[in-house]
Amino acid sequence: MSYENALKKIIKDGKSATVGDVTALLGADAKKRSLLYELADSVRSDFMGDEVHVRGIIEFSSFCSENCLYCGLRAGNRVLQRYRMEPGEIIAAARDAAGVGIKTIVLQSGQDVYYTADVLARIVSEIKSSLDVAVTLSLGLRPRGDLEVFRKAGADRYLLKHETADPVLFAWLRPGTTLKERLNCIYTLKELGYQVGSGNMVGLPGQTIVTLARDIVLLRDLKVEMAGIGPFVPNPDTPLGNSVGGDVEATLTVLAVARLLLPRLHLPATTSLGTIHKQGRRMALKCGANVIMPNVTPLQYRRNYAIYPGKAGRELEPGANVREIQYLLEDMGRRMGEGYGHSPDYMA
Ligand code: 5AD
Ligand code: SF4
Repeated sequence: MSYENALKKIIKDGKSATVGDVTALLGADAKKRSLLYELADSVRSDFMGDEVHVRGIIEFSSFCSENCLYCGLRAGNRVLQRYRMEPGEIIAAARDAAGVGIKTIVLQSGQDVYYTADVLARIVSEIKSSLDVAVTLSLGLRPRGDLEVFRKAGADRYLLKHETADPVLFAWLRPGTTLKERLNCIYTLKELGYQVGSGNMVGLPGQTIVTLARDIVLLRDLKVEMAGIGPFVPNPDTPLGNSVGGDVEATLTVLAVARLLLPRLHLPATTSLGTIHKQGRRMALKCGANVIMPNVTPLQYRRNYAIYPGKAGRELEPGANVREIQYLLEDMGRRMGEGYGHSPDYMA
């Protein structure tokens, strides 16, 4: 399919677009890419408006039982200083974030069984009962029973990126795990009534534009409410330290095409894109993104949550991180969302 025909088809009916159609768009040259960016920006504006939803992330534990080849939190990384925040500290961090206007708290950690379902449920229910916020969990794979307990405690959303839609690449990058089991967890989350976020990295070793097209089509077929799409940033303390990372244009193109195919999806301007380019998040907000996720982890822990090096905003106090975003949005003629920023599809 030609680029032009693929574009017409996707704009008319994203539901019927094939991997071939999406691949044709992802292969666009520089001139056609800027058209994609413009189109994505106007689709974002038509379907999602000018509000940008701000989600505050609290990275509460850098312990992880897994060994993903790309990630600095991998269990095999012996140079990382690990930390765990106490429940009281987590709740205090959430309160501080709510105090600066944050309406969604994201509790994120490595895959860390130290925190039992009961302990996590108590944290969630304390946050939900004392603060006016939505709660997103991002804890990796947990048994269905745990996910049920968190949901009952009041968790609204869950973030579990599929990372790559290529099952062979997935199994190599995440030793001992399969794409299928991760997708099954996503189905479980949907069944339990969570708003679900997934997403993938761009620029992984061995990835092609066909793989990326499969990522976007998978996001559509999973019917997720949100997708985090960011570049792979090589971390020297991992086995992929010498790989080439994802680049800005490739990431923006995937983002823009995702917006065209999925007009009502929440799409963050990712921190990883802000890390490989100073203007990365601003550019993403002009290519379809409508969400931004400042880090509100207490500063003393921040540098030890080193998924990849040079993470954007790593030296700023939570309040300063949020203010920086307010200035950025004002400058762009956008505004910070005032509500919880639930998914429009989920609410319907
Ligand atoms: N570069 C970019 N993103 C990464 N993640 C993990 N390692 C990297 C990296 N090197 C992302 C993954 C994962 C989340 C914890 O961070 O997508 O879901
Ligand atoms: Fe652990 Fe997630 Fe990093 Fe994998 S990507 S090592 S599961 S924190």
